[in-house]
Amino acid sequence: MIKTAVLGYGTVGSGVVELLKKNKRLFTDKAGEEIQVKYILDIRDFPEDPNRDKIVHDFDVILHDPEITIIAETIGGKTFAYEYTKKALAAGKNVVTSNKELVAAKAPELLQLAKENGVKYLFEASVGGGIPIIRPLLHCLAANDLNKIIGILNGTTNYILTKMIKENMDFSVALKQAQQLGYAEANPAADVEGHDTCRKICILASMAFGKHIYPENVYTKGIQDLTLEDVSKAAQAGLVIKLLGYAEKTTDGSVKIFVSPCAIRTDHPLANIEDVFNGITVTGNATGDVTFYGKGAGKFPTASAVGADIIHCTTPADVGKILWQDSDNSFVKSFQDLQFTYLTGTEIPVIE
Ligand code: HSE
Repeated sequence: MIKTAVLGYGTVGSGVVELLKKNKRLFTDKAGEEIQVKYILDIRDFPEDPNRDKIVHDFDVILHDPEITIIAETIGGKTFAYEYTKKALAAGKNVVTSNKELVAAKAPELLQLAKENGVKYLFEASVGGGIPIIRPLLHCLAANDLNKIIGILNGTTNYILTKMIKENMDFSVALKQAQQLGYAEANPAADVEGHDTCRKICILASMAFGKHIYPENVYTKGIQDLTLEDVSKAAQAGLVIKLLGYAEKTTDGSVKIFVSPCAIRTDHPLANIEDVFNGITVTGNATGDVTFYGKGAGKFPTASAVGADIIHCTTPADVGKILWQDSDNSFVKSFQDLQFTYLTGTEIPVIE
């Protein structure tokens, strides 16, 4: 029997616990043994919850239990999640996570720590929710020199934009709906202002281009100032506005990377990706364009990716694998030096 602990019993954490129960047979078949959730760490009590007996409030209970070999961190943020992840890896426990903020900020250090301790730090759920993108980049596209990644990487803002474009819905009403559906971050400013997209494009670009890109070095503009007039200007030009994370290798070895609402052709592979769906187009020198598409947020799509990582921890593959090197700001080309064509009468770049 493999024993796990889930840190954080919010939307994603509870999804992981439910999925492990619902698909128990399948998890057992794929892992070769039953996987049981022994603890759920949360600051809250859940007196009515069927898993109330598993709730603990002290991380040390999990850390010092030798039966726990895999920890799913779904707390989010960089404070407790960072501290617990470091302690868990240092204690020789595998950690899987949906926490893009932590991965984007600390992956070089945490991957190194995992390597030193012969365990895994996996984060399939950190980008694209239920879309397989991390392991496809690592394994399936490994034979390619990847030169460009363009993604709709935030379900909340794509949901809001879709409602604005298709239903003329007020921004705040659409945001409220996205929150009720469990898509938005605890602080939805991270979605709306583009920071969540930024973290995700940084993770993908770091993997694809081999050096870590820190979010604070990336120009980031969200959808907060977008108007229905902008949307209609794009429509008149045969274009559609999407919040994109964009990363491209340049000939001088640096990376052109930014987050911004962009205008794209209506026949672009990402143009018809709507609602909570995410889409990521990766360009390889052997494959050409490959587009990934699916639900980028929500309880079960995200739990699917965390669950797959839990199963992956039960195999010896990829233990201690360092996926990319640390780097400094010099890897990122300054946004001021980038050249764009803009949608007429706006500051919205047009992306081919
Ligand atoms: N708030 C995020 C989104 C959740 O809307 O995409 C998934 O990372």
